[in-house]
Amino acid sequence: MDQICIIGGRPLEGTVQVGGAKNAALPILAACLLGGGDCEIDHVPQVRDVSTMVKLLQLLGVIVQGQCGKYTLNAETVQSVVAPYELVKTMRASILSLGPLLARLGEAKVSLPGGCAIGTRPVNLHLRGLEMMGAEIQVEHGYIHAKAARLQGARIDLDFPTVTGTENLIMAACLAEGTTTLHNVAREPEIGDLCAFLTKRGAKIHGVGTDTITIEGVRALHGARHWVMPDRVETGTYLMAGAITGGNLMVRGCITDHIGSVLKKLQETGVDLTEESEGVRIRRTGSLRSADIKTLPYPGFPTDLQAQMMALMSIAEGTSVLTETIFEGRFLHVPELHRMGASIEVDGPHAVIKGVATLTGAPVMASDLRASAGLVLAGLAAEGETVISRVYHLDRGYEKLEEKLGALGANIKRMRETA
Ligand code: UD1
Repeated sequence: MDQICIIGGRPLEGTVQVGGAKNAALPILAACLLGGGDCEIDHVPQVRDVSTMVKLLQLLGVIVQGQCGKYTLNAETVQSVVAPYELVKTMRASILSLGPLLARLGEAKVSLPGGCAIGTRPVNLHLRGLEMMGAEIQVEHGYIHAKAARLQGARIDLDFPTVTGTENLIMAACLAEGTTTLHNVAREPEIGDLCAFLTKRGAKIHGVGTDTITIEGVRALHGARHWVMPDRVETGTYLMAGAITGGNLMVRGCITDHIGSVLKKLQETGVDLTEESEGVRIRRTGSLRSADIKTLPYPGFPTDLQAQMMALMSIAEGTSVLTETIFEGRFLHVPELHRMGASIEVDGPHAVIKGVATLTGAPVMASDLRASAGLVLAGLAAEGETVISRVYHLDRGYEKLEEKLGALGANIKRMRETA
């Protein structure tokens, strides 16, 4: 297993290019299942979750060609309807194959994702929506077994704006008979990107970006080309890396409209942010100030940037309160930050962070994808050496992280874990 070793204390400087959004690429790749014809997908991040999705699609019978962020997929000959436990357990987003398989082939057998480090993460809303569209669903032997001769359009009100739930139902509705109206849907920009791709394939979708989406079902979708939107979580992570190290960074190729809530909170911490033609520049010369943050569905502050923001707040002057409202277990980075000298108290969904003058490097353990990013940021700012183990979590979602940070002046390297 790999470890990442960081010697902290260097301000980051230079320009970093943002890659394609993992959370847009995954549903877009899954959406290739919805019909024949070549789908050319460009700007796909080279991260492990993408390789896992490609492996799953190949297993289902999709022909996948290409590499280095550019793939051509053809799902003409898809026959298998089974997404096995071995793949689903390594990536929950495999659930995104459920809607497309059911709509296209009339059947899907997808392993039920178990709980994960950050919460129980049920998929009841995905299943209830599909049932309302006429699917018969049974959960047995750890698998969701769904069947429907042809899904029927329906009116579905989601109890919570689930992101992948919204995506699954949109994809299923594209091939359903009649019109589906989805209320209280998630409004994350990645859903907009998925809908843009589906529309290019011939889907009829209205209301994208609002909380009600209407889909008129069509018989079949055709091939299309698509360039995946930039990753807003990667964008936010690099902005925070600039902020925590007192650096001067240009984050190039991002869409600032997608990170409004993040820029607002960063501004409260006292950093300089300027929008330039190629991206956003962040600069910090003075000390960081505390800020109160609450994670919320988009356009609120993203839960996927909570751990990184907590690292930042741990060296800000004053006391910050960070409230996590999306995932009940998403504070696993707190004990690791304690090991680096942070002062954080957790009370239910709230973390009260009293800023300390400096963090000190320590051996720490990554627990999930974004928590690991928080530890990397803490390590960049800490005095001395931080060694982060279990970095396979980071590899799921961050493209060339050490390379990109190294090019900005960070002292960071990947090593094999010693016994
Ligand atoms: C997606 C993102 C993930 C991000 C999360 C929240 C992808 C591949 N992953 O995950 O990076 O952290 O959105 O922005 O895009 N819930 C239910 N029942 C359901 C579905 C969800 O109760 O059927 C609950 C979850 O337990 C959680 C909340 O709803 O508390 C939000 O989850 P959801 O939006 O579904 O997250 P994901 O789509 O899994």
